[in-house]
Amino acid sequence: MNSFGTRFKFTSFGESHGVAIGCVIDGMPAGIKFDKVFLQDMLDKRKPGQNKFSTPRKEEDKAQILSGVFEGYTTGTPISIVVFNENTRSKDYEKDVFRPAHADFTYYYKYGIRDYKGGGRASARESVARVIAGAVACMLLKEFGIEIMSGVFGVGNIDSKLSNDEFDFDYAENSEIYALDNNLEQSFKDEILKAKKNKNSIGARIFTRVKNPIKGLGDPLYDKLDSKLAHAIMGINAVKAIEIGSGIQSSYMYGSQNNDELKDGVFLSNHSGGILGGISNGDFIDIKTYFKPTPSIFLPQQTQNIQGKNIIYKLKGRHDPCVGIRGSVVVNAMVAICIADSLLLNASSRLSNLMKIYK
Ligand SMILES: Cc1cc2nc3c(=O)[nH]c(=O)nc-3n(C[C@H](O)[C@H](O)[C@H](O)COP(=O)(O)O)c2cc1C
Repeated sequence: MNSFGTRFKFTSFGESHGVAIGCVIDGMPAGIKFDKVFLQDMLDKRKPGQNKFSTPRKEEDKAQILSGVFEGYTTGTPISIVVFNENTRSKDYEKDVFRPAHADFTYYYKYGIRDYKGGGRASARESVARVIAGAVACMLLKEFGIEIMSGVFGVGNIDSKLSNDEFDFDYAENSEIYALDNNLEQSFKDEILKAKKNKNSIGARIFTRVKNPIKGLGDPLYDKLDSKLAHAIMGINAVKAIEIGSGIQSSYMYGSQNNDELKDGVFLSNHSGGILGGISNGDFIDIKTYFKPTPSIFLPQQTQNIQGKNIIYKLKGRHDPCVGIRGSVVVNAMVAICIADSLLLNASSRLSNLMKIYK
Protein backbone atom coordinates (compact mmCIF):
# COMPACT_ATOMS: atom_id res chain seq x y z
CA MET A 1 0.00 0.00 0.00
CA ASN A 2 1.19 3.56 0.54
CA SER A 3 2.34 3.38 4.16
CA PHE A 4 5.35 1.66 5.68
CA GLY A 5 6.49 0.99 9.25
CA THR A 6 4.90 0.20 12.60
CA ARG A 7 6.21 2.67 15.20
CA PHE A 8 8.12 4.88 12.78
CA LYS A 9 5.56 5.04 10.02
CA PHE A 10 5.22 7.12 6.90
CA THR A 11 2.53 7.50 4.27
CA SER A 12 3.57 8.82 0.88
CA PHE A 13 1.42 10.73 -1.61
CA GLY A 14 1.74 12.19 -5.07
CA GLU A 15 2.28 11.31 -8.71
CA SER A 16 5.10 11.92 -11.16
CA HIS A 17 3.41 14.82 -12.95
CA GLY A 18 0.94 15.77 -10.21
CA VAL A 19 1.20 18.91 -8.10
CA ALA A 20 3.55 17.49 -5.50
CA ILE A 21 5.15 14.46 -3.85
CA GLY A 22 5.53 14.09 -0.13
CA CYS A 23 4.83 12.15 3.00
CA VAL A 24 3.42 12.27 6.49
CA ILE A 25 5.69 10.69 9.11
CA ASP A 26 4.15 9.45 12.31
CA GLY A 27 5.98 8.14 15.38
CA MET A 28 9.10 10.31 15.36
CA PRO A 29 9.80 11.04 19.04
CA ALA A 30 9.64 14.65 20.25
CA GLY A 31 12.78 16.60 21.06
CA ILE A 32 15.03 15.55 18.18
CA LYS A 33 16.94 18.32 16.44
CA PHE A 34 15.54 18.62 12.95
CA ASP A 35 18.39 18.93 10.48
CA LYS A 36 16.94 20.70 7.43
CA VAL A 37 20.31 20.83 5.70
CA PHE A 38 20.75 17.08 6.02
CA LEU A 39 17.24 16.50 4.66
CA GLN A 40 17.96 18.66 1.62
CA ASP A 41 21.35 16.97 1.11
CA MET A 42 19.63 13.58 0.94
CA LEU A 43 17.06 14.89 -1.56
CA ASP A 44 19.85 16.46 -3.62
CA LYS A 45 21.61 13.09 -3.80
CA ARG A 46 18.45 11.53 -5.29
CA LYS A 47 17.29 14.44 -7.39
CA PRO A 48 17.10 14.04 -11.16
CA GLY A 49 19.05 16.07 -13.69
CA GLN A 50 22.30 16.22 -11.71
CA ASN A 51 24.59 14.87 -14.41
CA LYS A 52 24.71 12.83 -17.61
CA PHE A 53 24.27 9.59 -15.63
CA SER A 54 20.71 10.44 -14.59
CA THR A 55 17.53 11.55 -16.32
CA PRO A 56 17.65 15.07 -17.78
CA ARG A 57 14.38 15.94 -15.98
CA LYS A 58 15.48 18.92 -13.88
CA GLU A 59 13.81 19.23 -10.51
CA GLU A 60 15.04 21.30 -7.59
CA ASP A 61 13.26 19.02 -5.10
CA LYS A 62 13.21 21.66 -2.37
CA ALA A 63 11.59 20.28 0.77
CA GLN A 64 8.86 22.29 2.47
CA ILE A 65 8.14 21.28 6.05
CA LEU A 66 4.46 21.75 6.80
CA SER A 67 4.13 20.37 10.32
CA GLY A 68 5.68 18.50 13.21
CA VAL A 69 8.71 20.73 13.77
CA PHE A 70 8.81 23.68 16.18
CA GLU A 71 11.80 25.96 16.67
CA GLY A 72 14.09 23.38 15.10
CA TYR A 73 12.94 20.35 17.11
CA THR A 74 10.45 17.58 16.43
CA THR A 75 7.24 17.90 18.44
CA GLY A 76 6.08 14.26 18.41
CA THR A 77 3.21 15.19 16.09
CA PRO A 78 2.94 14.12 12.42
CA ILE A 79 5.73 15.55 10.31
CA SER A 80 4.46 16.47 6.84
CA ILE A 81 6.96 17.35 4.16
CA VAL A 82 6.24 18.18 0.55
CA VAL A 83 8.22 18.72 -2.66
CA PHE A 84 6.47 20.42 -5.58
CA ASN A 85 6.88 19.00 -9.09
CA GLU A 86 8.19 21.69 -11.41
CA ASN A 87 9.60 20.15 -14.54
CA THR A 88 6.87 17.86 -15.89
CA ARG A 89 6.59 17.29 -19.65
CA SER A 90 3.49 15.17 -19.96
CA LYS A 91 3.25 15.47 -23.76
CA ASP A 92 6.21 13.08 -24.02
CA TYR A 93 4.05 10.25 -22.71
CA GLU A 94 1.69 8.23 -24.91
CA LYS A 95 -1.89 8.22 -23.63
CA ASP A 96 -2.60 4.57 -24.33
CA VAL A 97 0.68 2.73 -25.00
CA PHE A 98 2.27 0.53 -22.37
CA ARG A 99 6.03 0.74 -21.92
CA PRO A 100 7.57 -2.77 -21.83
CA ALA A 101 8.76 -3.74 -18.30
CA HIS A 102 7.11 -0.67 -16.77
CA ALA A 103 4.48 -0.84 -14.05
CA ASP A 104 2.09 1.35 -16.05
CA PHE A 105 0.80 -1.95 -17.57
CA THR A 106 -0.14 -3.63 -14.29
CA TYR A 107 -1.44 -0.42 -12.66
CA TYR A 108 -3.88 -0.06 -15.55
CA TYR A 109 -5.11 -3.65 -15.33
CA LYS A 110 -5.49 -3.40 -11.56
CA TYR A 111 -7.20 -0.02 -11.27
CA GLY A 112 -8.71 0.48 -14.73
CA ILE A 113 -7.42 4.05 -14.78
CA ARG A 114 -4.35 5.15 -16.66
CA ASP A 115 -2.40 8.15 -15.46
CA TYR A 116 -0.09 8.22 -18.45
CA LYS A 117 1.61 11.44 -17.37
CA GLY A 118 5.08 10.36 -16.40
CA GLY A 119 3.67 7.02 -15.26
CA GLY A 120 1.61 8.65 -12.48
CA ARG A 121 1.99 6.79 -9.21
CA ALA A 122 3.85 3.94 -10.95
CA SER A 123 6.78 6.29 -11.45
CA ALA A 124 9.76 6.20 -9.08
CA ARG A 125 9.17 9.91 -8.54
CA GLU A 126 7.37 8.50 -5.48
CA SER A 127 10.77 7.64 -4.03
CA VAL A 128 11.20 11.34 -3.15
CA ALA A 129 8.84 10.58 -0.25
CA ARG A 130 10.93 7.60 0.85
CA VAL A 131 14.08 9.71 0.86
CA ILE A 132 12.34 12.36 2.97
CA ALA A 133 11.19 9.75 5.52
CA GLY A 134 14.62 8.10 5.44
CA ALA A 135 16.37 11.39 6.16
CA VAL A 136 14.08 11.98 9.15
CA ALA A 137 14.76 8.41 10.35
CA CYS A 138 18.50 9.13 10.14
CA MET A 139 18.05 12.10 12.50
CA LEU A 140 16.76 9.64 15.13
CA LEU A 141 19.49 7.09 14.38
CA LYS A 142 22.17 9.74 14.71
CA GLU A 143 21.21 10.16 18.37
CA PHE A 144 22.34 6.54 18.84
CA GLY A 145 25.45 6.77 16.70
CA ILE A 146 23.92 4.54 14.02
CA GLU A 147 24.99 5.42 10.49
CA ILE A 148 23.85 3.97 7.18
CA MET A 149 25.88 4.17 3.98
CA SER A 150 25.29 2.95 0.44
CA GLY A 151 27.05 2.91 -2.89
CA VAL A 152 27.36 1.15 -6.22
CA PHE A 153 29.59 -1.95 -6.47
CA GLY A 154 28.48 -3.24 -9.86
CA VAL A 155 27.11 -1.98 -13.17
CA GLY A 156 26.14 -4.30 -16.01
CA ASN A 157 28.74 -7.06 -16.30
CA ILE A 158 31.34 -5.24 -14.21
CA ASP A 159 31.62 -6.10 -10.52
CA SER A 160 34.01 -4.77 -7.92
CA LYS A 161 36.25 -7.50 -6.50
CA LEU A 162 36.62 -5.60 -3.21
CA SER A 163 35.29 -7.22 -0.05
CA ASN A 164 32.49 -5.61 1.94
CA ASP A 165 35.08 -4.18 4.36
CA GLU A 166 37.11 -2.68 1.50
CA PHE A 167 34.27 -0.73 -0.12
CA ASP A 168 35.09 2.97 0.09
CA PHE A 169 32.06 4.88 1.35
CA ASP A 170 34.01 8.15 1.59
CA TYR A 171 34.86 7.85 -2.08
CA ALA A 172 31.25 6.96 -2.97
CA GLU A 173 30.02 10.06 -1.13
CA ASN A 174 31.77 12.32 -3.65
CA SER A 175 31.42 10.16 -6.74
CA GLU A 176 28.87 11.25 -9.37
CA ILE A 177 27.62 7.68 -9.54
CA TYR A 178 28.21 6.78 -5.86
CA ALA A 179 30.91 4.24 -6.85
CA LEU A 180 32.36 2.23 -3.95
CA ASP A 181 35.47 1.24 -5.88
CA ASN A 182 37.55 4.14 -7.24
CA ASN A 183 39.42 1.84 -9.62
CA LEU A 184 36.19 0.85 -11.31
CA GLU A 185 34.32 4.15 -11.24
CA GLN A 186 35.36 5.06 -14.79
CA SER A 187 34.40 1.61 -16.12
CA PHE A 188 31.00 1.91 -14.44
CA LYS A 189 30.55 5.34 -16.01
CA ASP A 190 31.63 4.08 -19.44
CA GLU A 191 29.17 1.21 -19.17
CA ILE A 192 26.29 3.57 -18.35
CA LEU A 193 27.20 5.99 -21.14
CA LYS A 194 27.59 3.13 -23.61
CA ALA A 195 24.08 1.91 -22.79
CA LYS A 196 22.76 5.47 -23.07
CA LYS A 197 24.48 6.06 -26.42
CA ASN A 198 22.96 2.82 -27.71
CA LYS A 199 19.49 4.06 -26.66
CA ASN A 200 19.52 1.35 -24.00
CA SER A 201 19.68 1.10 -20.20
CA ILE A 202 21.63 -1.03 -17.74
CA GLY A 203 21.25 -2.74 -14.35
CA ALA A 204 23.28 -2.07 -11.21
CA ARG A 205 24.14 -3.46 -7.78
CA ILE A 206 24.23 -1.58 -4.50
CA PHE A 207 25.92 -2.31 -1.18
CA THR A 208 24.52 -0.88 2.05
CA ARG A 209 26.07 -1.08 5.50
CA VAL A 210 24.48 -0.19 8.82
CA LYS A 211 27.32 0.90 11.08
CA ASN A 212 27.11 0.57 14.84
CA PRO A 213 23.72 -1.17 14.97
CA ILE A 214 22.48 -1.94 18.45
CA LYS A 215 22.15 -5.63 19.34
CA GLY A 216 18.57 -6.85 19.56
CA LEU A 217 16.89 -4.91 16.75
CA GLY A 218 14.20 -6.82 14.86
CA ASP A 219 11.74 -9.43 15.97
CA PRO A 220 11.83 -13.18 15.55
CA LEU A 221 9.92 -15.19 12.99
CA TYR A 222 7.26 -13.20 11.14
CA ASP A 223 8.91 -9.82 11.61
CA LYS A 224 12.54 -10.83 11.22
CA LEU A 225 14.75 -7.83 10.57
CA ASP A 226 15.90 -9.45 7.33
CA SER A 227 12.32 -9.95 6.14
CA LYS A 228 11.49 -6.38 7.08
CA LEU A 229 14.49 -5.09 5.13
CA ALA A 230 13.49 -7.24 2.17
CA HIS A 231 9.93 -5.87 2.36
CA ALA A 232 11.24 -2.32 2.46
CA ILE A 233 13.84 -2.65 -0.29
CA MET A 234 11.93 -4.94 -2.64
CA GLY A 235 9.17 -2.33 -2.51
CA ILE A 236 11.43 0.12 -4.34
CA ASN A 237 10.80 0.42 -8.09
CA ALA A 238 13.07 -1.77 -10.19
CA VAL A 239 14.61 -3.73 -7.28
CA LYS A 240 14.63 -7.40 -8.22
CA ALA A 241 16.60 -9.05 -5.39
CA ILE A 242 18.36 -8.41 -2.11
CA GLU A 243 20.91 -10.37 -0.09
CA ILE A 244 21.86 -10.14 3.57
CA GLY A 245 25.49 -10.91 4.40
CA SER A 246 26.84 -13.75 2.28
CA GLY A 247 23.30 -14.30 1.01
CA ILE A 248 23.12 -16.63 -1.97
CA GLN A 249 26.82 -17.51 -1.64
CA SER A 250 26.18 -19.07 1.79
CA SER A 251 24.01 -21.74 0.16
CA TYR A 252 27.17 -23.01 -1.59
CA MET A 253 29.19 -23.22 1.64
CA TYR A 254 29.95 -25.69 4.40
CA GLY A 255 28.84 -24.67 7.89
CA SER A 256 32.51 -24.41 8.84
CA GLN A 257 32.96 -21.76 6.13
CA ASN A 258 29.77 -19.85 6.78
CA ASN A 259 29.63 -19.79 10.58
CA ASP A 260 30.76 -16.54 12.19
CA GLU A 261 32.94 -17.67 15.09
CA LEU A 262 33.10 -15.61 18.27
CA LYS A 263 36.19 -14.57 20.22
CA ASP A 264 36.51 -12.03 23.03
CA GLY A 265 33.02 -10.71 22.33
CA VAL A 266 33.56 -10.09 18.61
CA PHE A 267 32.58 -12.08 15.54
CA LEU A 268 35.56 -13.20 13.49
CA SER A 269 33.62 -12.93 10.23
CA ASN A 270 30.24 -11.58 9.13
CA HIS A 271 28.60 -14.04 6.78
CA SER A 272 25.32 -13.51 8.64
CA GLY A 273 25.30 -9.84 7.63
CA GLY A 274 24.73 -8.82 11.23
CA ILE A 275 21.40 -10.61 11.66
CA LEU A 276 20.72 -13.93 13.42
CA GLY A 277 17.20 -15.26 13.86
CA GLY A 278 15.84 -11.98 12.57
CA ILE A 279 17.60 -10.02 15.32
CA SER A 280 20.66 -7.80 14.94
CA ASN A 281 23.78 -9.29 16.55
CA GLY A 282 25.68 -6.00 16.83
CA ASP A 283 27.93 -6.58 13.81
CA PHE A 284 27.54 -4.48 10.63
CA ILE A 285 24.26 -5.11 8.84
CA ASP A 286 25.35 -5.71 5.25
CA ILE A 287 22.85 -5.67 2.39
CA LYS A 288 23.23 -6.06 -1.36
CA THR A 289 20.46 -4.78 -3.63
CA TYR A 290 20.02 -5.69 -7.28
CA PHE A 291 18.38 -3.20 -9.67
CA LYS A 292 17.11 -4.15 -13.11
CA PRO A 293 17.80 -1.86 -16.10
CA THR A 294 15.45 1.09 -16.62
CA PRO A 295 12.38 -0.13 -18.51
CA SER A 296 12.08 3.01 -20.67
CA ILE A 297 14.63 2.72 -23.46
CA PHE A 298 14.80 4.52 -26.79
CA LEU A 299 15.10 1.45 -29.03
CA PRO A 300 11.97 0.41 -30.95
CA GLN A 301 10.14 -2.34 -29.04
CA GLN A 302 7.02 -4.42 -29.47
CA THR A 303 4.18 -3.59 -27.16
CA GLN A 304 0.41 -3.18 -27.05
CA ASN A 305 -1.90 -0.27 -26.48
CA ILE A 306 -4.94 -0.13 -24.22
CA GLN A 307 -7.11 -1.41 -27.06
CA GLY A 308 -4.89 -4.53 -27.26
CA LYS A 309 -3.40 -3.60 -30.63
CA ASN A 310 0.18 -4.74 -31.30
CA ILE A 311 2.46 -1.84 -32.06
CA ILE A 312 6.13 -1.02 -32.43
CA TYR A 313 6.79 1.67 -29.88
CA LYS A 314 9.49 4.27 -30.06
CA LEU A 315 9.76 6.11 -26.80
CA LYS A 316 10.14 9.84 -26.27
CA GLY A 317 10.88 11.59 -23.00
CA ARG A 318 13.56 11.69 -20.32
CA HIS A 319 14.75 8.65 -18.40
CA ASP A 320 17.59 7.41 -16.25
CA PRO A 321 20.01 5.18 -18.16
CA CYS A 322 20.75 3.30 -14.90
CA VAL A 323 18.15 3.58 -12.14
CA GLY A 324 20.39 1.83 -9.63
CA ILE A 325 22.51 4.98 -9.24
CA ARG A 326 19.79 7.21 -7.81
CA GLY A 327 18.12 4.06 -6.48
CA SER A 328 21.04 3.62 -4.07
CA VAL A 329 19.88 6.73 -2.21
CA VAL A 330 16.40 5.26 -1.95
CA VAL A 331 17.76 1.96 -0.60
CA ASN A 332 19.70 3.87 2.04
CA ALA A 333 16.51 5.68 3.06
CA MET A 334 14.42 2.52 3.32
CA VAL A 335 17.08 0.82 5.44
CA ALA A 336 17.14 3.85 7.76
CA ILE A 337 13.36 3.65 8.13
CA CYS A 338 13.52 -0.07 9.00
CA ILE A 339 16.24 0.45 11.59
CA ALA A 340 14.45 3.47 13.15
CA ASP A 341 11.22 1.48 13.32
CA SER A 342 12.99 -1.50 14.91
CA LEU A 343 14.73 0.78 17.40
CA LEU A 344 11.43 2.22 18.59
CA LEU A 345 9.72 -1.18 18.68
CA ASN A 346 12.58 -2.64 20.70
CA ALA A 347 12.01 -0.12 23.50
CA SER A 348 9.19 -2.26 24.88
CA SER A 349 10.76 -5.68 24.33
CA ARG A 350 11.69 -6.24 27.98
CA LEU A 351 10.61 -5.04 31.39
CA SER A 352 13.94 -3.46 32.23
CA ASN A 353 13.60 -1.11 29.26
CA LEU A 354 10.15 -0.01 30.40
CA MET A 355 11.42 0.40 33.97
CA LYS A 356 14.08 2.81 32.70
CA ILE A 357 11.30 5.00 31.28
CA TYR A 358 8.69 4.79 34.02
CA LYS A 359 10.62 4.31 37.27
C1 LIG B 1 15.34 6.27 -8.64
C2 LIG B 1 14.59 5.55 -9.71
C3 LIG B 1 14.38 6.18 -10.94
C4 LIG B 1 13.68 5.54 -11.95
N1 LIG B 1 13.53 6.17 -13.14
C5 LIG B 1 12.92 5.53 -14.16
C6 LIG B 1 12.84 6.14 -15.45
O1 LIG B 1 13.36 7.23 -15.67
N2 LIG B 1 12.20 5.45 -16.42
C7 LIG B 1 11.66 4.21 -16.24
O2 LIG B 1 11.11 3.62 -17.15
N3 LIG B 1 11.76 3.60 -15.03
C8 LIG B 1 12.35 4.23 -14.00
N4 LIG B 1 12.45 3.60 -12.78
C9 LIG B 1 11.95 2.23 -12.62
C10 LIG B 1 10.46 2.03 -12.80
O3 LIG B 1 9.72 2.90 -11.98
C11 LIG B 1 10.09 0.57 -12.51
O4 LIG B 1 11.03 -0.31 -12.99
C12 LIG B 1 8.79 0.21 -13.17
O5 LIG B 1 7.75 0.99 -12.69
C13 LIG B 1 8.40 -1.28 -13.02
O6 LIG B 1 8.39 -1.66 -11.69
P1 LIG B 1 9.30 -2.85 -11.16
O7 LIG B 1 10.58 -2.74 -11.91
O8 LIG B 1 9.44 -2.60 -9.71
O9 LIG B 1 8.58 -4.13 -11.48
C14 LIG B 1 13.15 4.23 -11.74
C15 LIG B 1 13.38 3.59 -10.51
C16 LIG B 1 14.10 4.24 -9.51
C17 LIG B 1 14.35 3.54 -8.21
